[in-house]
Amino acid sequence: MALTSLKNAFSFVSLVAFAILHSSFEVASVSVNAEREAEADALLIWKASLQRETQSPLPSWTLLPNNATNSSNNQYTSSTPCSWFGVSCNHAGSVVRLNLTCSALKGTLHEFPFSSLPNLAYVDLSMNGFFGTIPIQISHISKLIYLDLSFNNLSGEMPPQIGLLTNLEVLHLGENQLNGSIPIEIGHLKSLNDLSLYANHLHGRIPASIGNLSNLAYSYLDEKKILYSIPTSLAELSNLAYLYLCDNQLSGSIPLEIGNLTNLVELDISHNNLKGLIPPSIGKFENLALLQMYENQLSGNIPTEIGNLKSLIFLSLYTNHLSGTIPTLVGALSNLIVLYLFNNQLSGSIPKELGNLKSLIHLILSRNMLNDFGKAKLLNRDSSNWISLAGTYGYISPQLAYTMKINEKCDVYSFGVLAVEVIKGRHPGEMIPILSTSIVGDNLLLKDLLDLRISPPTLQLESQLLVIIKLAIACLHANPDCRPTMHMVSQLLSIQNALS
Ligand SMILES: *[C@@H]1O[C@H](CO)[C@@H](O)[C@H](O)[C@H]1NC(C)=O
Ligand SMILES: *[C@@H]1O[C@H](CO)[C@@H](O)[C@H](O)[C@H]1NC(C)=O
Ligand SMILES: *[C@@H]1O[C@H](CO)[C@@H](O)[C@H](O)[C@H]1NC(C)=O
Ligand SMILES: *[C@@H]1O[C@H](CO)[C@@H](O)[C@H](O)[C@H]1NC(C)=O
Ligand SMILES: *[C@@H]1O[C@H](CO)[C@@H](O)[C@H](O)[C@H]1NC(C)=O
Ligand SMILES: *[C@@H]1O[C@H](CO)[C@@H](O)[C@H](O)[C@H]1NC(C)=O
Ligand SMILES: *[C@@H]1O[C@H](CO)[C@@H](O)[C@H](O)[C@H]1NC(C)=O
Repeated sequence: MALTSLKNAFSFVSLVAFAILHSSFEVASVSVNAEREAEADALLIWKASLQRETQSPLPSWTLLPNNATNSSNNQYTSSTPCSWFGVSCNHAGSVVRLNLTCSALKGTLHEFPFSSLPNLAYVDLSMNGFFGTIPIQISHISKLIYLDLSFNNLSGEMPPQIGLLTNLEVLHLGENQLNGSIPIEIGHLKSLNDLSLYANHLHGRIPASIGNLSNLAYSYLDEKKILYSIPTSLAELSNLAYLYLCDNQLSGSIPLEIGNLTNLVELDISHNNLKGLIPPSIGKFENLALLQMYENQLSGNIPTEIGNLKSLIFLSLYTNHLSGTIPTLVGALSNLIVLYLFNNQLSGSIPKELGNLKSLIHLILSRNMLNDFGKAKLLNRDSSNWISLAGTYGYISPQLAYTMKINEKCDVYSFGVLAVEVIKGRHPGEMIPILSTSIVGDNLLLKDLLDLRISPPTLQLESQLLVIIKLAIACLHANPDCRPTMHMVSQLLSIQNALS
């Protein structure tokens, strides 16, 4: 198909050239042809630099004539890369997209044709074995909109020249071995919408220039060694929806200005050294579904404004120094699936209002100074929503909660189907509409869901199965906005794992 449209495009170009300027026809066709050949040649030079494993990489990348499309009047079909695996061209036959994700490629980017593909806009080389540094020549791909080099073995520092790629909308460099600090020049990427640098060895400050990325909606900066404080300029990113700064060494307090990020959907600043209060301004996050601030040194009360977070599904504040009582308004968070407040200095009684949390699957309040702890009055046995782990388990390894990496490509709905399928032994099929409209667990008996061909589970296993089934049901919710994200699912499952 690409080939046919290419041929058409070419004959159209030829026809116009012929009609308008007969004498230059030969010249025009030869130069278009030469440009394509130059693109093909440049890609082949890079291919030749890649490592050979059992077979040579990218077998379709070749100039040999393709028998199936051989015809006398288009000898250039053999010299255009447009039909090669992972290569897409524009109507003029120039390469615009290179998608070689997950293609078992090994080698460096040093021979990559940065200067020879003038129309290249999308580059996806993720999930391969590329190593070595990111060459500074990357800035020569001036039309670049999308760059994904994640899940490779790239090392060295992020070249500051990346700041010259001002059309860049997506930059994924996560899961590599990059070191050094995030270059200030990143602030020049005015079009950037999605920035992911997690799981590298970056250290130093988050540059204040990040406040200039006014289009940023996704920001995954969870790292091991990003130091110092959260820059207040971050609060200028009014479009930011996903902010992950977890697992760094951030110190200081949470800036009050964070309340300006009113479009946040997920905020994770857990596992840092943050001190001070949880700013009441978080109450402005009307769309917030995930709030994780666990494993810091946050103190003071849980602000009552937390009750404004009507979209909240996942609230995790464990292992801090939070004191005072649990705000009764937490009981107004009707979408809450997970509530972890354990290992703080919370006191007073557990508010009765928590009993209103119809969607709640996981509640852990242990290791506090709550006075009616262990009393089952609140944890109404009939309310099967409650897996009453409160107080019954001791320490939960937080590291286990991070065993699964964020993967935005995971489909939470498929997970739900799969989980029910595994437990029930067959595809949930016609049960999905029933499952996905019922209030989690309320009208459902475990025996309806279990695989009847195997022997019934023990009591402990049964309670674990219930958590997973309820989670699966939450993932099957008819309204996608009400489903937890895969990130939330992975956290819940790993805590579940740690408990078993
Ligand atoms: C193409 O044709 C040549 C000559 O007929 C033949 O030797 C070769 O095997 C063919 N290649 C493919 C891929 O069919
Ligand atoms: C391709 O076409 C040319 C011109 O028609 C012909 O000479 C050549 O033998 C063909 N090659 C193959 C492999 O069929
Ligand atoms: C590359 O291909 C994969 C798999 O087909 C797809 O998921 C991804 O979105 C593509 N990336 C780009 C930039 O086109
Ligand atoms: C990444 O590089 C390290 C050594 O630098 C090597 O041990 C490891 O196997 C490489 N990983 C991949 C996925 O190529
Ligand atoms: C980054 O790693 C490279 C080796 O991959 C090393 O030569 C360089 O000194 C490191 N730079 C920093 C700032 O740690
Ligand atoms: C942010 O952008 C403004 C104007 O666009 C510029 O003056 C300022 O220097 C930039 N700040 C940083 C930290 O890059
Ligand atoms: C951000 O928040 C602070 C304090 O909450 C406020 O004074 C400031 O005007 C806000 N800035 C913007 C750009 O909204």
